[in-house]
Amino acid sequence: MKEDRIIILGIETSCDETAAAVVADGQDILSSVVASQAHLHTRYGGVVPEVASRAHVENILPVVSQAIEDAKVTFSEISAVAVANQPGLSIALMVGVTAAKTLAWAWGKPLIAVNHVHAHLQSALMNREAIDFPAVALIVSGGHTNLYEVRSSVQLHLLGTTIDDATGEAFDKVASILNLGYPGGPAIEKIAREGNPHAINFPRSLMEKNSLDFSFSGLKTAVLYYCQGQDMKGQNRAHLMSRQEVADIAASFQAAVIDVLIEKTRRAVERVGARTVLLGGGVAANNALRTALETFCRNRGLAFSVASKPLCTDNAVMVASLAYLKYKAGLFADLTLEPKASLD
Ligand code: KG4
Ligand code: ZN
Repeated sequence: MKEDRIIILGIETSCDETAAAVVADGQDILSSVVASQAHLHTRYGGVVPEVASRAHVENILPVVSQAIEDAKVTFSEISAVAVANQPGLSIALMVGVTAAKTLAWAWGKPLIAVNHVHAHLQSALMNREAIDFPAVALIVSGGHTNLYEVRSSVQLHLLGTTIDDATGEAFDKVASILNLGYPGGPAIEKIAREGNPHAINFPRSLMEKNSLDFSFSGLKTAVLYYCQGQDMKGQNRAHLMSRQEVADIAASFQAAVIDVLIEKTRRAVERVGARTVLLGGGVAANNALRTALETFCRNRGLAFSVASKPLCTDNAVMVASLAYLKYKAGLFADLTLEPKASLD
C-alpha cells in the first residue's frame, strides 16, 4: 500500500552524474536512474564544471521523469522531494537544487536538503541489520577522503580529511598519467589485476603518528616521476611502456593507496573504540579495497558494512534514503535553499 509509506524522490547533481531515484521508507528502491557524463569529460581527464552544469540542465527533466515512471508512482503519492545541495560544484548542484525546489513548490510537497558525503555514508547503512555503534566511516570519492566517527545513523563527527587530492582524484590523475582514460578508478582497478602490487615501492604518506588526515599528492607525483624515468627530462614515457609495465605501476599505486586507507582507518578505530567500519563513496567500488578492509575488520573482530556496488558511485538512492531519516525527524528545507560548495 503506497499510501502508508513515506515515498521520497531524491535528486543528485553534485558532480558529473545526473541522478534521480524514488525510495520508499528509506530502504525500498522503487527506481534509480543515473545519467553519467563521463564520456563528456574523458578528453579533459577530469570533470569540467561548465560542461557538467550544461549536461545536468539537459538531463535533469528526462532523468526525473524516468525515475517517476519506473517507480510507477504519481506525484500525489510522493511524500517529499530531496536534493543533495552540498558539497560539490556549485554550478552543478544548482541544477538539482532548482529542479527540487520547483517540484516541491509545484506539487506542494516538503523539500529536504541532504549532504552528499553524508548520503554516501547512508548507502553503507541501507538495508543492514542493526549496526553496532560506535562506527568509523571511511568515505572515499572523487571529491572527498573523509573519516568519521559515527555514533548513530545521523550523528557524525569528522575525524580526518584530505589535505590535497581526494582518493578518487588521485586514481583519476594517475590514470591520466598512464593514459587510461576517465574515470580513472575503474580503469586502474582493471589493469591492476594483471600487475604486481609489489613491483614498485611507492611512498605511503602517513603524516604524523596520530594524524587521521590524508595526503595523496606525493604518491601521484611519485608515479609521474617514475614514468618520466630517472633522468627526469620531463617526458612521460607511459605511452612507450608495455602493458605489463603499466599494470605493475597501476597495481603498485593501488596497493599504496589501500595501505594508507587501512592504516588511517586502524588509527580511527582505535581512537574511538569502534565496533564497526563503514565504507562508501565511488572508490568503495574498488574490489581490492573492499577485500582489504573486510579482511582487516575480520582479523580485528570488527563488523564491516560497505555500500552495494551500484550505490558506491554517485546516485540518488542514497539521497532519498538519507532524506527519509530527515523526514521522520521533521528536518525540512525551504525555498530559499542554496547550493553550497563546502562540506558544511
Ligand atoms: O562518489 P563518486 O561517484 O563521485 C564523487 O562524489 O566524487 O566518486 C567518483 C570517483 C572517481 O574519482 C572514480 O575514479 C572513483 O570514484 N572510482 C573508483 C572506482 N570506481 C569509481 N576508484 C577506484 N576503483 C574503482 N573501481
Ligand atoms: Zn559522490
